[in-house]
Amino acid sequence: MNQSDSERIRSVIEGMGYELTKIEEEADLIGVVACSVRQKSIDKVYSKIQKWNQWKNNRSLITFVSGCILPSDEAKFLKLFDLIFRMSELPELPTMIQQCGVILEFSAHHLFDDLEREDDRTDFWQVEPTYSSRFEAFVPIQNGCDKFCTYCAVPYTRGREVSRSSAAVLEEVETLVENGVKSITLLGQNVNSYGLDKKGEELSFAELFRAVGELGKRSGKEFWVYFTSPHPRDMTRDVIEVIAQYDCLAKQIHLPVQSGDEEILRRMNRNHSIDAYRKIVSDIRELLPTATLFTDIIVGFSGETEAQVEASAKLMEEVGFNMAYIAKYSPRVGALSASWEDDISLEQKGERLAKLTKILKRTSLACNEQMVGKTYRVLIERVDKRMKEALSARTEGRILVRILHAPEELIGTFQNVRITSAANLSLTGELV
Ligand code: 5AD
Ligand code: SF4
Repeated sequence: MNQSDSERIRSVIEGMGYELTKIEEEADLIGVVACSVRQKSIDKVYSKIQKWNQWKNNRSLITFVSGCILPSDEAKFLKLFDLIFRMSELPELPTMIQQCGVILEFSAHHLFDDLEREDDRTDFWQVEPTYSSRFEAFVPIQNGCDKFCTYCAVPYTRGREVSRSSAAVLEEVETLVENGVKSITLLGQNVNSYGLDKKGEELSFAELFRAVGELGKRSGKEFWVYFTSPHPRDMTRDVIEVIAQYDCLAKQIHLPVQSGDEEILRRMNRNHSIDAYRKIVSDIRELLPTATLFTDIIVGFSGETEAQVEASAKLMEEVGFNMAYIAKYSPRVGALSASWEDDISLEQKGERLAKLTKILKRTSLACNEQMVGKTYRVLIERVDKRMKEALSARTEGRILVRILHAPEELIGTFQNVRITSAANLSLTGELV
């Protein structure tokens, strides 16, 4: 979502005549799209702005911050950055930047008033993004969240759920497909509750995804469409049925479970049982037998016992996830759980994370080993970050494949690759 927001911010700034530089030190205008989900990301914002403010002693520089910001950080950022704006205020950014040079004081106060009110304006979606890749694109379909999981900052930073119009989403997807984009990800903090705020007016998530599938069929082009992140409560069987019917709807599901323990799920206000999660997994296995399954898990949530970690471990073994983003719990000011004791030490959180990571590596390796010797369609993405002599690609299920001896011209294309070996979280293959 932050990348998608940045692509729209870039369009607005370039529209003012600014040019992109990749060299931070030479920028006249520099900003950050913050993420408040975990404290670690916000700490990075503080270290960046301290550095930029030091540069200001020697030269002129305008700094801004946007994205997901908790009210408690907002007040502090106001003192550190020249500009702070919500994505809903993006169309006004040029005026803010112009004012910034002239009357900085006024600008800061003006924006502070804005930040104090509820704001669900979504005109910023009409800003055409400057996509950062020619073959991979992110399309926001929904913003905000009404679920109020007790650990989560999102309802306080992004506000209530607002769905983008189905027509606008389909138009953006169609243009991307016409332009030969190969991987499209529909985005939202709570992506599959799409349309629930506009029942009867807009399509449901399953209907929207079907329309994307139909669009793909008509186009005759090859591309994969993903979505992230859904909530198990809204992951109805009709969504899975739709995915099964269209080649362009990727057979990969990222379904956060957060914990394998009923009591923890209840205290997290997730509002579903482990059995309900199991039922979705069994629907996926039945209707999408080739699908890979990813999840998010939090360790060290307030009051989490060893037995409750064991329950998460057991669920991971049972489901056999291909990927899990495992995070150490960090209290977020304003979220309900921040008023509960953060009683699991950092060391214990680290041990729990290591324990679950070990299981992930084992289950993922087991899936990867079954792929050896077979040929898969992959999308080649880049020169590999670790092995400079290889290209990295992803299968439809988003498993990383390193391809040796492949020319860089193939980046951005689909290729057939025979898998030659499997590791914990990746594969190696050769072009067929
Ligand atoms: N602490 C740790 N992890 C969190 N997440 C969300 N809030 C927190 C928090 N306070 C994780 C969840 C979510 C992912 C985006 O980030 O697992 O699915
Ligand atoms: Fe946060 Fe997702 Fe829960 Fe919404 S559903 S409160 S975004 S974790």
